[in-house]
Amino acid sequence: MFQTLTPQPPDGLLTLIGLFRDDPRNSKIDLGVGTYRNVAGITPVMEAVKAAERILLDGQQTKGYLGPEGDQRFVKLLAPVAFGAADAHAGRLVGVQTPGGSGALRLGGELIAAARPGATIWLGTPTWPNHRPVLEAAGLTVAEYRYFDPATQTLCFDDTMAALSAANPGDVVLLHGCCHNPTGTELDPAQWDAVAQLVAERGLLPFIDLAYQGLGEGLDADAYGTRRVLTAAEEALVAYSCDKNFGLYRERTGALFALARDADAASVVFGNMLTLARVNWSMPPDHGAAAVRIVLDSPELSRLWRTELEAMCRRINTVRTALADAEPRLAFLSRQRGMFSQLPITPETVATLRRDHGIYMAGSGRINLAGLQVADAGIFVHALRAVDGLPQEC
Ligand code: LMR
Repeated sequence: MFQTLTPQPPDGLLTLIGLFRDDPRNSKIDLGVGTYRNVAGITPVMEAVKAAERILLDGQQTKGYLGPEGDQRFVKLLAPVAFGAADAHAGRLVGVQTPGGSGALRLGGELIAAARPGATIWLGTPTWPNHRPVLEAAGLTVAEYRYFDPATQTLCFDDTMAALSAANPGDVVLLHGCCHNPTGTELDPAQWDAVAQLVAERGLLPFIDLAYQGLGEGLDADAYGTRRVLTAAEEALVAYSCDKNFGLYRERTGALFALARDADAASVVFGNMLTLARVNWSMPPDHGAAAVRIVLDSPELSRLWRTELEAMCRRINTVRTALADAEPRLAFLSRQRGMFSQLPITPETVATLRRDHGIYMAGSGRINLAGLQVADAGIFVHALRAVDGLPQEC
């Protein structure tokens, strides 16, 4: 049986975790996989989450199954964080808990494939390297358009609008809700308005990947596009991740939300989500979602969580400003948002930075700003100068 299998390349991004760990240099800097690091250089368990975990440990009476829908109180409390008012889209919006945002993407992809086998999904490039494999594995046909030009560090808004205008009704368009991964380059509110209107007019299905809410400008500002698109759309999907904004990474905490035409359609969609979840993971893991539920159910822990999240967001933006101040050719970093930006450098330069300077980043030139300390901004800029890795001023 197994002789028919061919060797698979390791995941380029996740390989960096092991390479960095095994590098003995004390001066090494990890700008690879997207995890937040605090000023002490660690990925902390948030205080609000710790408090919720204590409550969970003391108070949990059973570990009985929850079912494929997961923790529905978690889903209900998360919806207003993402969508605004508690009754936003009342009756038309359903959600299930998923193993992380990736589980939500996969489930959403399979839901689309079940409704419309082989449906086309439009991805703006560059995008998170796992988007295409997950969506193709779910049975979708991927089409691409140019979203961003690394050389000039600009959004290709005309290409985006042209692609959406040319897409066929019933096609799906994947949109990054905020903190674009890998470029940090966002649609502004007027551009979101235009995209929301065009997507609705053309009868496209928006599928929003909302994985970094609160790490760009703040919880509400980062949800502007998602809320705008859902207000305009008849139907939509949102893959939500709590891995970054609750610091729950390995707990794999997320949700898939679906907006349907009416309550009856929503109930059918919900049933299909359960069936698909059942054949994938049967039921999602509980712990992370239970911690988020306890945080969001408590005004006091919610306030603490929001305060901690705001501090994380501020730190990322401080790192952006420090780099822009240290080197004019990195000025674009201060205009971008979220954990990531993508430097216009070659994989060879990325390898040289790793080998000669102990600086780790994705082969695409993507850097995780949340991995850098302000005090190391000068070292990083110096290394970029040494390898001729700085772009023209833009
Ligand atoms: C990232 O983009 O670094 C994160 O989303 C981690 C991952 O799974 O790729």
